[in-house]
Amino acid sequence: MRIAVIGTGYVGLVTGACLAHVGWDVTCVDNVPGKIEGLRSGIVPIYEPGLEDLVLANKDRLRFTTTLADAIDGAEIIIIAVGTPTRKLDGNADLRYIFAAAKEIAQSLRHYAVIVTKSTVPAGTSFQIKRIIAQANSRLDFDVASNPEFLREGNAIDDFLNPDRIVIGTESGVAARLLENLYRPFTEKGVELIRTDIVSSELIKYAANTFLATKVSFINEMADICEKVGGNIDDVARGMGSDTRIGEAFLRPGPGYGGSCFPKDTLAMARIGQKLLSPASIVEAVISVNRLRTHRMVAKIVHAAGDDVRGKRIALLGLTFKPNTDDVRDSVPVVIAEELSQLGAQVRAYDPKGMEQARGLLGDAIEYCECLEDAVTDAQVCVIATEWKEFREKKPGEYKHLMARRVMVDLRNVFSLKEMSEAGFSYFSIGRPAIEDRTVSQYDPSTFERKVRVDAAPSFELSAY
Ligand code: UDX
Repeated sequence: MRIAVIGTGYVGLVTGACLAHVGWDVTCVDNVPGKIEGLRSGIVPIYEPGLEDLVLANKDRLRFTTTLADAIDGAEIIIIAVGTPTRKLDGNADLRYIFAAAKEIAQSLRHYAVIVTKSTVPAGTSFQIKRIIAQANSRLDFDVASNPEFLREGNAIDDFLNPDRIVIGTESGVAARLLENLYRPFTEKGVELIRTDIVSSELIKYAANTFLATKVSFINEMADICEKVGGNIDDVARGMGSDTRIGEAFLRPGPGYGGSCFPKDTLAMARIGQKLLSPASIVEAVISVNRLRTHRMVAKIVHAAGDDVRGKRIALLGLTFKPNTDDVRDSVPVVIAEELSQLGAQVRAYDPKGMEQARGLLGDAIEYCECLEDAVTDAQVCVIATEWKEFREKKPGEYKHLMARRVMVDLRNVFSLKEMSEAGFSYFSIGRPAIEDRTVSQYDPSTFERKVRVDAAPSFELSAY
């Protein structure tokens, strides 16, 4: 079969490259000429581990064009993988690029095809696509289907090639058979293919993503409670996650979720519920927990710096929303950088992959360092905001010798309390007792247990609750 993929962003390009990799003849189309020229000469415009090699390895089955008509010519399956960003006006998913693709398909399609929406869209969108195409060209013979993707940035290739499941939503038997054929290379390996109706398929994507975001906000709230009563969130998460009904994934506490999906999908889900007069009140709570969290993190950093950051040199390690990506969209570390800068701190940031993208958002509000050492040297506080492997590979002692003061705010619990206490750091992390001593240099680890126990005593009588 010939496959067309519309959109060459994180989803479209990974989808095209992986479908070519399993043997299909794929043409990707994008309306940004520079992107397509680059891709034709093997330049992949995004950082995604393994993607460049995959595109190059499959170049005889993977073509790129700026003309949609060329891309869909002879294609039995046309996959729409364009962006559905948050509409600034009201927080709903912005479907203009989806509908523009549908209109262009209607103008160019000359044969039967299944038009598959892989982008994350509100329930019922595929029917709107069907209406747009049928109204534009009533003679066209086509079907629509939903086929959401579940790939994570930084792990996209593996997530696509080894999915937990494939979801197909369609009302057409013909379309279902074509899509079952498309994914045969996966189902033959035992991957489960869930076939349902269009609306349920579109909803599965939102429900899955908003539930994952719920787990993140939940563990972050438990972390805040741990800080109040002297608990250790790492142990709480482990104790919870060992229950197979809960699962350990997505229970890592941090500064809050970001990226191009969770923030937009939770907001869209909340808006969908409100419009239907059936509010997704849990999702609304997840959103508000996450929104407040960024400010809590800034407050934690200000406290660690001695309750004032003005004129203080703060090393910020990590600007991307998660490691192994260059994506800074809705990245919490970027917002933290902005807020610290506005409070008068001298922020010196380093990120292995996201520097240029972050510079596009932050401009000269912060300083950009070429390497970790450059950012950390003479810093009064070091903040770990994204858990890049490079940051955890450097030992606390190496940080200590570079810094002006031994104060670390670890928003990803990269280090252990023990190693930071032994290195004599004043150490603030997530959901664990703070190692706080204003005169850090006299810090005596042997008093660590007693001191933290005293400091961490509940600020209220537990019996009162
Ligand atoms: C997510 C979904 O995981 C993926 O299935 C969907 O297709 C797209 O959206 P992505 O946004 O790439 O993928 O990243 P993900 O790994 O889910 O992380 C999202 C955010 O949650 C990041 O900011 C990350 O730091 C945060 N997170 C994730 C946590 O804070 N704790 C966790 O345990 C997991």
